[in-house]
Amino acid sequence: MLQPQFEKNFDSWRLVARDLIANGTSPNQINWNQDVLSLFSFEAGENNLSASRQKNQKSNLMIAVPPEFIELAKLVSYARDDDRWNLLYRILFRLRFENANLLKISVDADIQKAESLQKSVRHDIHKMHAFVRFKKNIVEGEDIYVAWHRPEHLTVRPGTPFFARRFGDRRWSIFTPDESAHWDLKELTFGPGIQQNEFKATDDWDEVWKTYYKSIFNPARIKIKMMKSEMAPKYWSSMPETSLIQDLIREAPLRLQNMIENQNRAAVVDPHLTLPELKIAAQSCTACPLYAQATQSVFGVGPHDAEIMIIGEQPGDQEDLAGTPFAGPAGAVLDEAFANAGIDRNRIYLTNAVKHFKWTQRGKLRMHQKPTGGEMHACKPWLEAEIAKVKPKIIIALGATAGTAIIGKLPKIGDERGKIITSLKIAPQVILSWHPAAILRASDEAESQLRRKQLADDLRLAIQSVSSFPV
Ligand code: URA
Repeated sequence: MLQPQFEKNFDSWRLVARDLIANGTSPNQINWNQDVLSLFSFEAGENNLSASRQKNQKSNLMIAVPPEFIELAKLVSYARDDDRWNLLYRILFRLRFENANLLKISVDADIQKAESLQKSVRHDIHKMHAFVRFKKNIVEGEDIYVAWHRPEHLTVRPGTPFFARRFGDRRWSIFTPDESAHWDLKELTFGPGIQQNEFKATDDWDEVWKTYYKSIFNPARIKIKMMKSEMAPKYWSSMPETSLIQDLIREAPLRLQNMIENQNRAAVVDPHLTLPELKIAAQSCTACPLYAQATQSVFGVGPHDAEIMIIGEQPGDQEDLAGTPFAGPAGAVLDEAFANAGIDRNRIYLTNAVKHFKWTQRGKLRMHQKPTGGEMHACKPWLEAEIAKVKPKIIIALGATAGTAIIGKLPKIGDERGKIITSLKIAPQVILSWHPAAILRASDEAESQLRRKQLADDLRLAIQSVSSFPV
């Protein structure tokens, strides 16, 4: 029986498997499952194997397999299943010598097993993305975010690059019992795992997560069964917000009633908060009922001392999911206008008059709905706080909702756009322009082109009025 030496990962397995396949070695002759790497483990087969490897390297022999196999095998290689390497080799062997279309036979026992492992690994990666909670630690004056998680499979390597993309601007480590992953702002590296009781990191980061979770909890759409199935109890011990679930469920009817009663309230905003603190606080805003159906509050983005602030109406479907303004089709129109006006988007503070997405279901779509005066009123303190912190030299209000929030009355954009207004207290200069949605909705192509040009002209006028603004 051959006992191949390989590191327990896909690349290493593939190299060895390729040699064995080239040699025609039957799956029955191989045991991939030895626990300890032994120098003597090849025994009878070793010479044959290294000879074949040399031959293969010389002739650069590639074994052709369908790309779907590679994809399947990569995911299966992360499964916590001792038989996975045998299974993969068996499938590879059968693909080569028995049936090149084996992967299409979904009733085949090997394929069924591999596909079920693949699905389970994918699910586990998704769970990691959803349930990892970081705690902030200060180590030698630096913020380090740490989390402990217990994946079902060996998913640290495929699962953690997501966090490097998502939280690339801060240092973090994710520990699991098997392995740990570390991001140093440049590189993702892997180290040994630790048990949960060794993981000692405590501070108020839990509170931040609780605030966040509480703010996205929607009493009008409570689905206890779904919540329980999404958050399998095995994850609960590492998730601060689970301690809130019972309370949230108990309070749901009251919160629903408050939602209805609070229609005319305005947000109460602490003027001492910094912009990042405002952003966190806005997540808990219940000043109007819109929070109940939105995914999150979408706060402004951009430099905290931006000279130019652009205000839209409210987040759309994509912004609601992404958590950032102008990330969808309206953002694409705005980007085109930025390009035409020679403006770098990163130098602008972008926000909206209303921070929650207002929508109504139509089929599978969430259709945008215009916010009411009451909803704009409720949200205005957040906008005012942003303006007070950023202190822009000029505000560009896009469309009627933003225009109303800034000039205090409903403007006619077609008539009033493109003029610099200097008589308002809210900012030294204000200019009204077309909202990108009004461009997308224009009655014909000529009108759409005209509005696009006017939006770019208005942006250009705004940057000219801010003399130091680099174009
Ligand atoms: N429309 C807006 O007014 N704001 C956005 O962020 C997106 C669409």
